[in-house]
Amino acid sequence: MSHWDEFIEQQIASIREAIGSEKAINALSGGVDSSVVTVLGHRALGDRLKTVFVDNALMREGEPEFVVEAFTALGIPVERLDARAEFLDALAGLTDPEEKRQAVTSTFYRDVFGRLVRETGAKFLLHGTILTDIEETVAGIKRQHNILAQLGIDPQQQYGYRVLEPLETLRKDGVREVGRRLGLPDGITDRMPFPGPGLATRIVGEVTSERLATVRAATAIVEEELADIEAFQYLAGLLEDKATGIRDGQREYGQIVVIRCVQSVDAREATVVELPWPKLHRICQRVTALPGVNRCLYDLTPKPPGTIEYV
Ligand code: XMP
Repeated sequence: MSHWDEFIEQQIASIREAIGSEKAINALSGGVDSSVVTVLGHRALGDRLKTVFVDNALMREGEPEFVVEAFTALGIPVERLDARAEFLDALAGLTDPEEKRQAVTSTFYRDVFGRLVRETGAKFLLHGTILTDIEETVAGIKRQHNILAQLGIDPQQQYGYRVLEPLETLRKDGVREVGRRLGLPDGITDRMPFPGPGLATRIVGEVTSERLATVRAATAIVEEELADIEAFQYLAGLLEDKATGIRDGQREYGQIVVIRCVQSVDAREATVVELPWPKLHRICQRVTALPGVNRCLYDLTPKPPGTIEYV
């Protein structure tokens, strides 16, 4: 048995042991981490695991439909929960990056999951935290939205459920390998990482539905144009500044979108991909055709000193 198959067997056994005859719940975002946890959890618990896709208004275009369909095809039922208004209300007026992350975390774990746990009687939350999330949070670089215990938060005491983190010893490359061995399709295991707090990590300043619509449309353009590029991650961010430009012969004070495309093994460090000029040019044309956007920049900053996301 390979190292990875052993890992899978061990995790299934320890999920079963920890949960005993209780029920568990997990949130599937459609990212590799939560997808792998969903399959591990279903192998361990069958229908004693309830999987929920929380629509937090911070998702990419078409994402809720894609995720629910992909897992239905695998025989894993996923419940879609519309919590868009709740997240937007929690984010309204916030501009500080850590406060924005904190708002997403509290809405998710305290409000939405707290309620689901009370409604379903689940005692455990299965969670896709990976080693890099823990390390960066503990190092104070960024408060990853899915970190609780490592920040001294006792979920049992604060939210009324216990958290299991079967992937906490793996990095992204390991999670992908486990996903392949669990039979997840390439469309999911090879998916680009997408952060838990979603498009909120790509908006500098306040997150509003209008600004989300802009960054969502720009993201869709970047993902379409760069689909054939070998990269760890590509994305669009929206800055808080504005710049003067011209549209239809008129002066326009418009928004600024930044494109980022990086290569990385495990997200701890990243280098910028040298994109072909015609690609950049086309992205720029399409992004500046979005309403109110009159600048499109390409970010040349590696990690460090940048991070991959903007918040
Ligand atoms: P940064 O921006 O810290 O991102 O260089 C490193 C990698 O992690 C993703 N990321 C997150 N993933 N919850 C997640 O599940 C988060 O709060 C979070 N923040 C960043 C990011 O997309 C990149 O792949």
